[in-house]
Amino acid sequence: MADFVDRRYAAVRSLAAESLITAEQPVVGIIDTEAVETQIEALSWAFSSIPDTIHLVACKAVTLVPLLRFLADRGMGVEVASPGEFAMAEAAGFPPERIVLDSPAKTVPEIRHCLTVGAAVNIDSYQELARIEELRAEIDTRSVIGVRVNPVVGSGSIGEMSTATTTTKFGIPLIDEESRQALVDTIVARPWITQLHVHSGSQGVGLDLAAEGISRIVSLAESVTEGAGFQQITRIDIGGGLSVNFGSDEITPTFHTYAEVLERAVPELFSGRYTVLTEFGRSLLAKAGSIATRIEYTKNVGQRAFAIGHAGAQTATRTVFMPQAWPLRVSAFHADGTPSRNPNRIQDLAGPCCFSGDMIGREFVIPGLDPGDIALIHDTGAYYFSTPFAYNALPRIPVYAYTSDGSTAKFTCIRRQQTVAELLAEAGEDVRL
Ligand SMILES: Cc1ncc(COP(=O)(O)O)c(C=O)c1O
Repeated sequence: MADFVDRRYAAVRSLAAESLITAEQPVVGIIDTEAVETQIEALSWAFSSIPDTIHLVACKAVTLVPLLRFLADRGMGVEVASPGEFAMAEAAGFPPERIVLDSPAKTVPEIRHCLTVGAAVNIDSYQELARIEELRAEIDTRSVIGVRVNPVVGSGSIGEMSTATTTTKFGIPLIDEESRQALVDTIVARPWITQLHVHSGSQGVGLDLAAEGISRIVSLAESVTEGAGFQQITRIDIGGGLSVNFGSDEITPTFHTYAEVLERAVPELFSGRYTVLTEFGRSLLAKAGSIATRIEYTKNVGQRAFAIGHAGAQTATRTVFMPQAWPLRVSAFHADGTPSRNPNRIQDLAGPCCFSGDMIGREFVIPGLDPGDIALIHDTGAYYFSTPFAYNALPRIPVYAYTSDGSTAKFTCIRRQQTVAELLAEAGEDVRL
């Protein structure tokens, strides 16, 4: 079996050979399905000592139905956070019992649909709890009802990605003993609440901090057991949030390392008393994906060398707006998709958008990029294809899934490039004022 890096080299060669990266389609996302499969296996193996698990993928990381279907077919569930994501989950064929709805702003129609089809839901606030209580009286539902708890363990290294602080909008917070007891009493009074959920944040949340958050909700579950006189909470949803190493091809930390940390910090999770749900996104998918962009021009500005390509804020939105938090690696290829043999140069890689900050990164030390060359931006399989930014009316980039024997790659288009006609229609072409 060809290794991951060989498959990626083969994919760039085949992109060029099959004219999938051209002047008309100068930026392309690619995703290695074998790498995704390897991560699914790593995830289920890491948690295999827990008798009952449901591994969900966070839909927001991958809003592409063919890929979601690929995950559904391999036994995964899905965590969704909007009506659009819910519809994608259903279109991809996830059975309702493997769908979990999380969102801080669920509308009545959204909750009604969730309860009607029997997907699980994590309540995010006391007001939502009251809404669900009313709707349950009306709908005969099979849905598992959970509560998202903010364990208030503090922030990881990216404040905007941290959700277990005193300043986050997510979940019902355990601010002090009083708020904790109020939540226990609320749950005990409603035996239909059987699941607790925590997600302390994404990228930048350390393993120990995440484990501490999970430990606090497991202890909350045990307080509910004491209050109820029986084990009311039977499912613990530990969220996602395992960080990705964007600095090299190494997968670190691994799911296995995370599971080991959890087993030490929260042994009850592994006791068999709970069904354990996970909701990983980035750690499942990031390393499987890359963005290939043609270099259109190069120029020097004083001492600074720029290569200007077609991947910018429209697809690498977080990297462009928060470069320190989301740095990406880049490799250089000739136009025929072979690794560049040019001498190394220090250069900045810019995107196509009309604002100065539209940079993939600065001062890359890579083989000098020339017009027509291909720059490959690594580790973009999660969030980069699902989070387009519609600036400058740039089209959503096309995405191809690939398999490879290490010498060539076979592509399946899973999202074509948005057409100019579609852009015009979205822009209200038909409307006259
Ligand atoms: C509730 C919830 N679960 C899971 C995830 C997935 O996180 P990650 O992609 O870091 O694994 C997120 C991400 O925002 C989330 O909000």
